Amino acid sequence: MSHRAPYADLKPYFLTIDDVEREHEGILDWASFFGNDHPVELDIGCGRGLFLVTAGEANPDVNYLGIEIDYRQGRHGAMRLQRRQLSNVRVLGGDVLRALTELIRPHSVSAVHVYFPDPWWKRRHRPRRLFNNQFVDCCADVLQPGQLLHSWTDVEEYFGVISFLMEQHPRFETLPPPEERPATHDMDYHTSFERKARKLGKTIYRGRWRVEGGFSLLTDKETKMPRPL
Ligand SMILES: C[S@@+](CC[C@H](N)C(=O)[O-])C[C@H]1O[C@@H](n2cnc3c(N)ncnc32)[C@H](O)[C@@H]1O
Repeated sequence: MSHRAPYADLKPYFLTIDDVEREHEGILDWASFFGNDHPVELDIGCGRGLFLVTAGEANPDVNYLGIEIDYRQGRHGAMRLQRRQLSNVRVLGGDVLRALTELIRPHSVSAVHVYFPDPWWKRRHRPRRLFNNQFVDCCADVLQPGQLLHSWTDVEEYFGVISFLMEQHPRFETLPPPEERPATHDMDYHTSFERKARKLGKTIYRGRWRVEGGFSLLTDKETKMPRPL
């Protein structure tokens, strides 16, 4: 009877934080990791990877890294990437806080996406929620100046908490939310959880926030240089 190596067959689409420690000297150097210098976006808690597949196919000049603590989900997403040979998308198995604080260089990513973070309904489990001051600080640290954090959920109360954390954070400004777009086919949703929630007729709360710094597309009249935001 043959025994397949449990994870080897999904490389390079799925790798764990330990793999990064061993094979990439513990640092995600994007240019060598993806083999190009395209911008990199993170999908935190990517689940089964619908966003990664759709965004990766639509934007071949952008690299995407999904981060997923549940290896089964992450590997499911990676299988979809492997089937499509999507070379600009990868899934990292492990805890996002470790990835943000140990593996990803400051100011090196061009967007952070956090869709439908687990709500942890029971009050005593609330401390397990992803969004807290430390998480928001880490996102501010890894984003390049002036870039965006996007987060959607169908849980009104959690969205209130997320909005409060983001609005009172000194390094983020709140932008108007994106509008809902009608789905044109059965998989035309941002993520699997959005699909499920919209099919049940639930309201989706969408937020986006810009981290401090960066430059506006307008130039300063006197210096002719890009204006700081
Ligand atoms: C409710 S699911 C949403 C999945 C996907 N974003 C979507 O919208 O379909 C939340 C996901 O976040 C993952 N997750 C929770 N805590 C995490 C952490 N600390 N690091 C990485 N992933 C995490 C969970 O395993 C789960 O797959």
